[in-house]
Amino acid sequence: MRIISVNKNDSELTAFVSKAEAATYPDPWSEASLVSSLGSGAILLCCEGSGQNIGYIIGSAVADEAEILRLTVLPEFRRRGAGTMLLTAFLNEAEKAGAKKAYLEVRSGNTAARALYSSLGFRETGIRKNYYIKPREDAVLMCADIPPERISLLGDINADTGNRKLM
Ligand SMILES: CC(C)(COP(=O)(O)OP(=O)(O)OC[C@H]1O[C@@H](n2cnc3c(N)ncnc32)[C@H](O)[C@@H]1OP(=O)(O)O)[C@@H](O)C(=O)NCCC(=O)NCCS
Repeated sequence: MRIISVNKNDSELTAFVSKAEAATYPDPWSEASLVSSLGSGAILLCCEGSGQNIGYIIGSAVADEAEILRLTVLPEFRRRGAGTMLLTAFLNEAEKAGAKKAYLEVRSGNTAARALYSSLGFRETGIRKNYYIKPREDAVLMCADIPPERISLLGDINADTGNRKLM
């Protein structure tokens, strides 16, 4: 598996993400909103494995705070470490941008995501009652220091695509 940093002109990858969004979430990001967010500094990393795109993470890093907005691995590729790789790579990018803490919200019933976040050092800091709709559910707020202990990763630029190969 490898992680790629995506820019707003990479239409193949932004199309992959918007398709996966539509298949996964009741409030999917459209490709247009994704491209617009990338133009305004959002971070999008994709994971490639078995010769195809298998997951992505969307987030932001502004001043000393990072926020994780989405983390998705295609169903048939879950439990192989892709989610961990994506989140680790994102936290590294956020650290390079100066972030000292990372924040996220997760559905209270999403045991898979909560376990993954806890395994990378996120702590539960609060509950937002009935935050989600379709279906209605509480949000658990989580926060982690950057860098967590386990992260160590190098990045370089892929000369062919201009994308940075991160892992
Ligand atoms: C959450 C998600 C991104 C995890 O991706 P993944 O590639 O399967 O995660 P990993 O393989 O890196 O798992 C890392 C650890 O997280 C925990 N975990 C992952 N899936 C789990 C599950 N279904 N049940 C319990 N724990 C789970 C385990 O501790 C796992 O380590 P292990 O496999 O050694 O036991 C994936 O399930 C997903 O895309 N879900 C749908 C979208 C979603 O809910 N995103 C989060 C929104 S906040």
